[in-house]
Amino acid sequence: MPIVEIDYEKCTFCGTCIRVCPRRLFNEINGEKVEYGDPKSMCIRCGHCVARCPEDAIIYEDMGESYEFSDVNHPERILSYENLFKFLQAHRSIRRYKKEKVSEELLQKVFKAMQWAPTGRNMRSESFIIISDEEQLKTLSDAIQKTLTEDKSWGWLYGERLANLAKEFRSPVYFDAPHLIIVYSQLFTDIGIQNIANIITYGRLAAHSLGLGTCWNGWTQAAIEIDPKIMKLAGFRAKKLGAFTIGYPDVTFYRTPPRSFKHVKGLT
Ligand SMILES: Cc1cc2nc3c(=O)[nH]c(=O)nc-3n(C[C@H](O)[C@H](O)[C@H](O)COP(=O)(O)O)c2cc1C
Repeated sequence: MPIVEIDYEKCTFCGTCIRVCPRRLFNEINGEKVEYGDPKSMCIRCGHCVARCPEDAIIYEDMGESYEFSDVNHPERILSYENLFKFLQAHRSIRRYKKEKVSEELLQKVFKAMQWAPTGRNMRSESFIIISDEEQLKTLSDAIQKTLTEDKSWGWLYGERLANLAKEFRSPVYFDAPHLIIVYSQLFTDIGIQNIANIITYGRLAAHSLGLGTCWNGWTQAAIEIDPKIMKLAGFRAKKLGAFTIGYPDVTFYRTPPRSFKHVKGLT
């Protein structure tokens, strides 16, 4: 159980924890005491009680660190919409990489950001793998190219495209990127894939903020859906997965590509 108890030396019985807990695991006793009770382990470890308690009186374990910094309550002061939107506009899928590997220090920062992504019921049940060995990436790329090319549904779409890329890249599926990150889950429901997509988006944006480039690799996912044995080549087993390449970009963009704006039902 991650929330252990309330520190009554600090607690002022303000009741914030009672109101903030999505599972209502804190109870008011006789209008003057707050108690934590989680007989069925219903806590989802969202940590909102820890984040909201004005007295820092929630004692927890095994949940990682909680951070205090200025503007923790005002994310809009940390990053304005204008800067965020420019950042998003400048965020491109990178299909040209330098050969240079990314340092473990930077990769750890990307994984740290990914592990801050919200997941359904705060389950955080996804796992991570990074493949940096050129030969292993080539083996995977070859298997994925073969599977997609021979597949009745995908062959017409990707066969020729990947054959063309193979004229230029040793690992055409990965554009010879130095690393491939795979996020995978044993959940077979849609929530599994939604969690993965969310995590990957956090990782890609973090990578971009570090001067790295990434490209989501739907080909890996599509090929594994057709032939799950490909997972063995990457060293994992899962029900759902998502993958992206990562490395130093070797490409110059002079402007953003155009994007037509879709009408939003309910707005003028
Ligand atoms: C779920 C998803 C899967 C994708 N799969 C691939 C892929 O397998 N290969 C590829 O070259 N690009 C892939 N992309 C990149 C898209 O083609 C790209 O995002 C789109 O062309 C827009 O370009 P931008 O990301 O630079 O704005 C994928 C993107 C997403 C969101």
